[in-house]
Amino acid sequence: MSKKKKSPSKPKKVLVLHGPNLNLLGKREKGIYGNISFEKINKDLKSLAKELDVELEVKQSNIEGKIVDFIHEAYKKDFDGILINPAAYTHTSVAIRDAILAVKLPTVEVHISNIHKREEFRHKSLTAPACVGQITGFGVDSYKLGLLALGSII
Ligand code: DQA
Repeated sequence: MSKKKKSPSKPKKVLVLHGPNLNLLGKREKGIYGNISFEKINKDLKSLAKELDVELEVKQSNIEGKIVDFIHEAYKKDFDGILINPAAYTHTSVAIRDAILAVKLPTVEVHISNIHKREEFRHKSLTAPACVGQITGFGVDSYKLGLLALGSII
């Protein structure tokens, strides 16, 4: 009896979505967000994704509607999950929250700083209740922890 060859499973696709001002990481408020550049964060995430056999696409926008469009696109392009740092929109955006709820893709929210330790207006996340969970306060490692968490559920 000939053995049937197992077809290799397709790698999962994850969209990494960075919100406003995160393109300035490494330059902006270094005391809070550290010295590591936006480019290096994405490079390191891509290396981790390779180890996890996950395909990553990285997007950043300073515009709320564009972030909503990226979330819709992730659905249309059959992504398996979203890793998002909505940055300041975390605390204000009903539109991003609704987009995550609309596409129903498993989404993990991450923050570099611990938003609960900071100003009161940052304590509330409008987007986290639409997500599987939130990782906050581990510096840029929050992104890696978020990808590991997402990788294990998709
Ligand atoms: C942030 C926290 C937000 O409150 C802030 O507006 C950001 C970055 C973080 O990663 O710690 O821009 O999302």
